[in-house]
Amino acid sequence: MPTDPRLADLARMHADLERHDRLYYAKAAPEISDSEYDDLKDRYERLADDLEVLAEQRHQKTPGSDHSEGFQTVRHDLPMLSLEKANTEADAFVVAGEDVAIDRLPTDRDARKRTSWGKLEAWERARRKDLALADSAPLPLVLEPKIDGMSVSLIYDGGKLIRAATRGDGVEGDVITAQVEASGAVPVTVKEQARFEVRGELYLPRAAFDALNRDLLAAGDKVLVNPRNGCAGMMKRKDAEALRGKGVKSFLYFVPPGLHRMTLPASQFERLAWLTAQGFQVHPGSVRVDGMAAAYTQCLSYTQVRPTLDHDIDGMVMKLDDTAAGERLGETEHHPRWGIAYKFPPERRATVLKAITVQVGKTGRLTPVAELEPVLIAQSTVSRASLHNFAELAAKDIRIGDTVVVQKAGEIIPQVVAVDLTKRPKNAKPVPWPTHCPTCATAVVEERRPDPSGKENVSHYCPNPACADQVRERLRHFGSRDAMDIRGLGSAVVNVVVDKLGVTRPDQLFALTAAQLAPLELEADVNDTKRTFGKKNADNLIAALSTAKPQGLAKVLAGLSVNGLGSKLSEDLAGRFGDWSTLLAFARAYVAGERAAVLAVRKKLKAEDKAEMAKLGVVPLAGVDDTTADTVFRQLTAAPMVAVLDGLATAGVSLSAKQVVTNAVAAVAGKSFVLTGTMPSLGRSEAEGLIKAAGGKTSGSVSKKTDYVVAGAEAGSKLDKAKELGVAVIDEAELKRMLGG
Ligand code: IVH
Repeated sequence: MPTDPRLADLARMHADLERHDRLYYAKAAPEISDSEYDDLKDRYERLADDLEVLAEQRHQKTPGSDHSEGFQTVRHDLPMLSLEKANTEADAFVVAGEDVAIDRLPTDRDARKRTSWGKLEAWERARRKDLALADSAPLPLVLEPKIDGMSVSLIYDGGKLIRAATRGDGVEGDVITAQVEASGAVPVTVKEQARFEVRGELYLPRAAFDALNRDLLAAGDKVLVNPRNGCAGMMKRKDAEALRGKGVKSFLYFVPPGLHRMTLPASQFERLAWLTAQGFQVHPGSVRVDGMAAAYTQCLSYTQVRPTLDHDIDGMVMKLDDTAAGERLGETEHHPRWGIAYKFPPERRATVLKAITVQVGKTGRLTPVAELEPVLIAQSTVSRASLHNFAELAAKDIRIGDTVVVQKAGEIIPQVVAVDLTKRPKNAKPVPWPTHCPTCATAVVEERRPDPSGKENVSHYCPNPACADQVRERLRHFGSRDAMDIRGLGSAVVNVVVDKLGVTRPDQLFALTAAQLAPLELEADVNDTKRTFGKKNADNLIAALSTAKPQGLAKVLAGLSVNGLGSKLSEDLAGRFGDWSTLLAFARAYVAGERAAVLAVRKKLKAEDKAEMAKLGVVPLAGVDDTTADTVFRQLTAAPMVAVLDGLATAGVSLSAKQVVTNAVAAVAGKSFVLTGTMPSLGRSEAEGLIKAAGGKTSGSVSKKTDYVVAGAEAGSKLDKAKELGVAVIDEAELKRMLGG
């Protein structure tokens, strides 16, 4: 039987979802909004239902980790899961972009299933069945605002906060005790003396977020995109003291079962009261209702309260009030069965499109930007919105003068989602595609390529690397958090450094002096006030440049704006080659078509390839396929790029792979460890983190160079190998002793 052609569509959507997961979690650089992601996921699930794809073969959102270098990791006693979501799918709204009362929803079952109420209704039916409850029996539910913050796990013992950790990948998180303590977001002492864990959300109130951004702007630094990212970034600052007085707050909502030794009420609502009595902040919008219909009605009315809150919420969480019943129901692989999250539809407003301007990106890509009549959406004024490319403008038939619908769901960049054709002025003209770069007037290159869903994508590029906008974007990227993290090198500063001091390449930044920078006049800010950079900011920037020098090869590579070379591949390449000259030699060999280099990259290997690799002693290069390798290595070996790296080396920037040592311990520093088996208390990555932080190295295989094998329960072949080679074998207790207790 021929295979269903829709399977190919499903596979493409699957790959697309995985790519967006990676962009969101691993790179913190989403290309699409949360609601666009949800739409894609909804379409995928519908097709997977039609094709009767088994649950275990479907896309599963597996959040990457929020782990940051230099932070100790710990294993959560119980994994930090996420909740099942109930949202209305983009094409299932009966009133555009709005959830409506139950009696206004379609009665048709299929249409209803795709609305938030349809999903909540199904959840309630399933839970009543699980609990053998009749439809008429009461079902007490606790409804809590879903805080759009950063999840945190706190452990108290003897009335004191002893550990705070991030969600991480759900299984292991980063220890942020010092940061949480300094932030003042949670009580450091509580009445309860027994050991217990409590989970909740850290958040940055909007006023604190605005104040922080004002300070960043005044220092010429990069502004934070939203309070959620702002909070997450702050809690990962190494200098915990800097968090004092910054206004981070918290709401706590969950005491996980298992860990605590005290008796708690068997009601979620009463547990919230217990948390309040302990001194925790509990969201004042939390209520107890009977049944899902009442909960949904409360969700609709809470949309009136939402704008009055001093923080962002992106939905409401419904939980069984009966915690004993909830614990009995257990969880699926990803979600507990005791709760579900209702998501607010993204906020939309209509406004007039005044003009289309063209933005030039760091790789020369031209993006149309909608200049809008300012409109208030989700508590902030929107006057610009992104459009992916010119083809999208044409496909949506968006014209200047049109009334357009703009959407924002707490995301970074608002979007134009539709045009109101009834309001189109008579003379509205389509937007022409660019023929010349708006910045340097170079003729534009048009590139047509299918996107992962098979649709043809048209992109426009300015091919001139010396184009002033590209130069500015590349410098901005070089200083960004993902790359060299140079504080004080915000947009306004980059602009003057390029325009007034003639800087065009990242290595030239390191030759700047405070005397050159201090008198520079920055562009007017939002309040139209002109500012000079000033001596203090100039000194800070010079200091930040100097601090950035030892960041290491991975960060340098990630900052080069090489197409296809993101943070992950940069880390892989730095880890594999160790320094720039070794990497460059390999890249040159690859570009020259040398067999060993080409084979190292090739993924589909024939038997003769494998034999040749063995003969030549080729070690495969992980994390890069040949299309990426072609573009990345070609760009890295280009003469202007090599000149930049030479310049960086001359400026004293480290081009070697870096090992993060936060607290070198003599017995461990420089020693190589292999971990095997299950250790009594330390998780695998927790132990690796401790060894690395103490200056040691870890490896996956035992060799003569291994100094210690740390063996836990059920250690297998690595332990045998260690004995065979006479490598010292130690246990967790010994490792802890070596680490200093
Ligand atoms: S209960 C199994 N209650 O929303 C997770 N979560 O997927 C139990 N969130 O990342 C979470 N406000 O961090 C719960 N009142 C609330 C919440 C809440 C925000 C976050 C949570 C999780 C996501 C749910």
